[in-house]
Amino acid sequence: MLPKSRDHRLGSKTRRCALGTAAGCLLAGLAGCGKQSIVSPHSPQTHQIALLWWWMLGAATIVFVGSVAMLGMSWHRRDSPGLPFVGEREDLSQKMVLLFGIGIPVVTLVVLFAVANLYVIRSSAAPNPRSTSMTINVIGHQWWWEVRYPGSQAVTANEVHIPVGARVNLVATTADVIHSFWVPELARKIDTIPGRQNRVLLQASRAGVYYGSCAEFCGFQHAHMRMEVVAQSLSAFKAWLTNMAAPAPAPTTAVARTGEQVFMNSQCESCHQIRGTSARATVGPDLTHLASRSTLAALTIPNDPPSLTHWINDPQGVKPGNRMPDLGLSQSAVSAISSYLDGLH
Ligand code: CUA
Repeated sequence: MLPKSRDHRLGSKTRRCALGTAAGCLLAGLAGCGKQSIVSPHSPQTHQIALLWWWMLGAATIVFVGSVAMLGMSWHRRDSPGLPFVGEREDLSQKMVLLFGIGIPVVTLVVLFAVANLYVIRSSAAPNPRSTSMTINVIGHQWWWEVRYPGSQAVTANEVHIPVGARVNLVATTADVIHSFWVPELARKIDTIPGRQNRVLLQASRAGVYYGSCAEFCGFQHAHMRMEVVAQSLSAFKAWLTNMAAPAPAPTTAVARTGEQVFMNSQCESCHQIRGTSARATVGPDLTHLASRSTLAALTIPNDPPSLTHWINDPQGVKPGNRMPDLGLSQSAVSAISSYLDGLH
């Protein structure tokens, strides 16, 4: 057994370590939040939402600080009669109650209502489709997003590409339960409701990748139902869309060709589509250009060869409860499929 003093030193070291880890996690969490923040707006409409948020925070801070100050002052003067500075004037204290209790709150709430519900709500509302340059359809699924470009064969998942600055009419619906499409830096939140089409204006002022999450509880993997919006130059967007619309490239290596055969002869093709092949199901995400996406399983894991192999091998271990079953394929079958899918650029 250790001497008591050493034991004690070890204890404080462990505590410091735990505190350090907690601080690290908090910082990492805050850094992660920064990527998906309503106060980091990148479109005209989210700029207004953020401005409204800061004004509300400012007003609430004044009220809070004022109330605490008055509470403190009343405690400090608990034995003195009357008001500070003016003394015992009944008419004045009644006026102050009317001003701070009714006058200022009514004016503040009316101004807030007018700005939020008459101005900001309109400027961030669903756009007139004629005022937009393109339409994108987004369909929520448990637990991923299907993305379609009307007028093009392009279908993808969890990644919405848009040209920088373009006003996009985003039409959202669902294949199953209610989800909510929300990319806080670019647009306000819209629910995807069965049998309905909700729209929102999607626009990015600057090129970049903007992250979002499903914002309506939709079942087991709600937290892993994320999406990203890639805002790029018009020429890069057009090149991307042309590639997305094309059929899948043919496998180039022997192992990838084996992988294609295994894919087509196993249960993979009963759920997925790979355009240009016999796989035409639309239960799971379209895999025609899977290798061009940056993540798998709705931003749960990166899209690199080891992660892809791990995903096919053990989808329920990576994302428990998701709709992709463990097919019990052999190791060689899994790596062949993985090689095939890795070539689908
Ligand atoms: Cu979809 Cu929560």
